[in-house]
Amino acid sequence: MRRRKLLTSAAAITAAAALALTGCGRSDTGASSSSAAAGFPADAKIGVSLPAKTSENWVLAENLFNSDLKAAGFQPTVQFAGDGGAPAQQQQIDAMISSGVKVLVIGAVDGKQLNTQLAAAKAAGIKVIAYDRNLQSTKDVDYYVAYDNFKVGELQGQALLDGLKARKGSGPYNIELIAGSNDDANSKPFFEGAMKVLQPKIDDGTLKVLSGQTTQDQVATQGWDPKNVQTRMDSILSSKYGSAKLDGVLSPNDTLARAAMRSAKDAGQEVPVVTGQDSEVESLKSILAGEQYSTINKDTTNLVKATVQMVKDLQAGKEPTTTAKTNNGTIDVPTQYLEPVLVTKENIKDAYKNDEALNKIVNP
Ligand code: BGC
Repeated sequence: MRRRKLLTSAAAITAAAALALTGCGRSDTGASSSSAAAGFPADAKIGVSLPAKTSENWVLAENLFNSDLKAAGFQPTVQFAGDGGAPAQQQQIDAMISSGVKVLVIGAVDGKQLNTQLAAAKAAGIKVIAYDRNLQSTKDVDYYVAYDNFKVGELQGQALLDGLKARKGSGPYNIELIAGSNDDANSKPFFEGAMKVLQPKIDDGTLKVLSGQTTQDQVATQGWDPKNVQTRMDSILSSKYGSAKLDGVLSPNDTLARAAMRSAKDAGQEVPVVTGQDSEVESLKSILAGEQYSTINKDTTNLVKATVQMVKDLQAGKEPTTTAKTNNGTIDVPTQYLEPVLVTKENIKDAYKNDEALNKIVNP
């Protein structure tokens, strides 16, 4: 798959420069990068360290890594840091390194807090693949595989504008913004991608944010916890809205989208136009019912497949395919990006044709 060329217009150059400054810069590469490992036994131990079950995609990933790695002949250990957060993840990774894994696949709770573990992995000759969330400010990460997070944000921003136009008549519109957890490296590209689309409309008065909260820090959701969204939205709606209508909410994922919709409902508001991500079952039902406006399909099966293919390539001593580089604040990490797909009521019936379980939900 060819990545969109970033350096073809002045606007793109500005965006690329901004991304580089924030440590999230991506650029295309036609070729693959540094040399791969010399290979390792076909039944090697592989460690997969996942964050918390903050959305359905992580639970799916656990099952898929277990089954796909076993099917490929490897011995997987798949663990969640869960409520133990970054310290638990550090301990689990330490134990995986001691157990003799050949590859570590890491979906970090906090991509900045694993530097000691990653240095130890590098010293032990273990290859490190950042999964879904990049590992930040370290040189000890070999590959990154993910859906294009900045693109996810852009799709969400555009969906919010389109949804407002379709459902709420002509503007100006009152909206609120929600971002993910600040310790998750993805929260920044999600938010910045969306704001690339929304900021000009805030500046020209089409969109009004009555809370006045428009920076990522002001709208972040610690731990991706829906309770935090509900508390924040309840307080904004009671203190800033009165009889004003809340027309839309930028939400970075489905779990938080549903929390925002609940809060609006509790405050007696009509259902606002709310974006999401992850194709969670409850949200697909809500989209079908004409409530949640959109989600983003990032098929976990394909992401795990791409990751397991990297592991297989490394086992065979081959260089895994990468199509881009992502700056993590220290190095440009060879990256394989998959394309996220926007889903609304308009395309939902077709969107999950290749996903047996979700297709049953949208085409019962
Ligand atoms: C993932 C999202 C998910 C969020 C919360 C992010 O890193 O990319 O798909 O919604 O974590 O679990």
